[in-house]
Amino acid sequence: MSAFSGKTVLVTGGTGSFGQHFISVVLDRHDPLAVRVYSRDELKQYEMQRRFSDPRLRFLLGDVRDAERLRRAVQGADIVVHAAALKQVPACEYNPFEAVKTNTLGTQNVAEACIDADVWRAIALSTDKAVNPANLYGATKACAERLFVQANVYVGHGRTRLACVRYGNVVGSRGSVVPLFRDQADHGRLTLTDRRMTRFWITLDQAVAFVTRSIERMRGGEIFVPKIPSMRVVDLAEAIAPGIALGVTGIRPGEKLHEALLASEEARHTTDGGDCYVIEPEQPFWADRGREEGAPVPDGFSFTSDANTEWLGVDELRRLLAETTVERRAATAPAVA
Ligand SMILES: NC(=O)c1ccc[n+]([C@@H]2O[C@H](COP(=O)([O-])OP(=O)(O)OC[C@H]3O[C@@H](n4cnc5c(N)ncnc54)[C@H](OP(=O)(O)O)[C@@H]3O)[C@@H](O)[C@H]2O)c1
Repeated sequence: MSAFSGKTVLVTGGTGSFGQHFISVVLDRHDPLAVRVYSRDELKQYEMQRRFSDPRLRFLLGDVRDAERLRRAVQGADIVVHAAALKQVPACEYNPFEAVKTNTLGTQNVAEACIDADVWRAIALSTDKAVNPANLYGATKACAERLFVQANVYVGHGRTRLACVRYGNVVGSRGSVVPLFRDQADHGRLTLTDRRMTRFWITLDQAVAFVTRSIERMRGGEIFVPKIPSMRVVDLAEAIAPGIALGVTGIRPGEKLHEALLASEEARHTTDGGDCYVIEPEQPFWADRGREEGAPVPDGFSFTSDANTEWLGVDELRRLLAETTVERRAATAPAVA
């Protein structure tokens, strides 16, 4: 039986790329009692309501910055998936206080609301940009990860367990590079910031399946990192528009040439969990929860997009793109978000 069966699930950011896909999978395959969407914009909720028309769905308007509203919203929820975030690197750089309020303080509010309402499982979504962050978005998410992991300290005798998942670029999500490249291809020229750039690659389906599995296996305090392949951004451009002219705009502030999903400093408390790495907390509360099964990763190990052992070439990228739903609203910057 699914961990979601008969449960009430709340998804912050439920109208986003991840949220909508996650909710459709949970409703179709996991038999929840109810699913609550928690987000700010009534239009997105209205559109989603029309798209899904499922009586188990509830639409709650609210901001993760609003602790009081959140506390009420999570009452009676068993599972909370925290996906709400500001995630565009340039927008976070230009609006730094807003990024902190939503991504960091908002995450603290979610953790506190979950503990106070005795929610059974809470999982927060994080990103490769949180590893050795080079921009404010990454820094807010790094802090959010720590808040969610360390919030387990406040649980006491309650049943709440909090954990994170951390993964790389979701292909085709809102504001990602794929819709940008497709829009640019219509105008005959693609721009990228640096020809050497590499990124991790995960599809929305894989991200949703990974979060679902992580909720089922978590003990509270882990950061789950899926083993996913890398791609060269020039190969992605070639897969989308073969032979097209490429403009190189130069690396943006806060952008990295390569991303990391696991830092070498994390290796000494990371286990190889088969299809994923599990970063375990270095805290006393973890001792009571048992160790992960699997071998520890070698000391000093890191998982980076340039040193990956799994790569997607042009043909494979083209095949995967053909199977992927891409949200057409493109990023405005020539970026690899
Ligand atoms: N997409 C990727 O490539 C990627 C990769 C790794 C990790 N992640 C993480 O995955 C999560 C989901 O990403 P996504 O691609 O689904 O993002 P998205 O499509 O931009 O959706 C973000 C959602 O958050 C809501 N939201 C934003 N600010 C909010 C606030 N203050 N209070 C409540 N809701 C708020 C938005 O709705 P309203 O605007 O209506 O509030 C929307 O529903 C994020 O945490 C992101 O950091 C994404």
